[in-house]
Amino acid sequence: MQPRIAPSLLSADFARLAEAAAAVPSSDWLHVDVMDNHFVPNLTIGLPVVQALRASTDLPLDCHLMIDDPDRWAPPYAEEAGAHNVTVHAEAAADPVMIARDLRAAGALAGLAIKPGTPLEPYLELLRGYDTLLVMTVEPGFGGQEFIAGVLPKVREARRRVESGHLTLAIEVDGGINADTILAAAEAGADVFVAGSAVYHADDPDRAVGELRELARKAS
Ligand code: DX5
Ligand code: ZN
Repeated sequence: MQPRIAPSLLSADFARLAEAAAAVPSSDWLHVDVMDNHFVPNLTIGLPVVQALRASTDLPLDCHLMIDDPDRWAPPYAEEAGAHNVTVHAEAAADPVMIARDLRAAGALAGLAIKPGTPLEPYLELLRGYDTLLVMTVEPGFGGQEFIAGVLPKVREARRRVESGHLTLAIEVDGGINADTILAAAEAGADVFVAGSAVYHADDPDRAVGELRELARKAS
């Protein structure tokens, strides 16, 4: 398992997004947090900004949509913004099976996210139609929060389903990932690690990416 690191632009300078992307050339994915002030109590950026970002970096964009009505709003991130992966929240999706089909038809990977309090069990069957599972390790909405280790059993269960061949998924963790917590998440079976403050508040963001990847590698 090759760990992948996805710096979250939420902790970068929003007036300098292209520079923030350029500051982490060794990243695997660039994580973009889209928030609508309805699904979460915070507002960030939307499609036009992601389109502009697409034109400013070659890094694969990992769009995490913390928005209501992703059935309507998710496909354009693949179709019009060229996102590599588009993740919608299970709690907000009306027809997650159809969303995954739409995203894949547009050439993107389809991702499903669950909040810390949302169980994995009800989604196991429909995850067969998905490429990534994002397990939130903080309540969605803000960077810089403390990692919730209590969600790791869901990561373990997802990894078990992947190992047994029931699911083919990248397992992504998002929230509070840093040098102190990444090992536990990797040992539980995560293979994509979103890190906002641990990367962008570091003196050398790209070095932080490499250090996090090394730590995650130790688990495998
Ligand atoms: C929170 C976002 C995260 C956030 C993580 O709702 O989904 O991607 O940027 O930030 P850190 O790594 O600082 O917890
Ligand atoms: Zn995120």
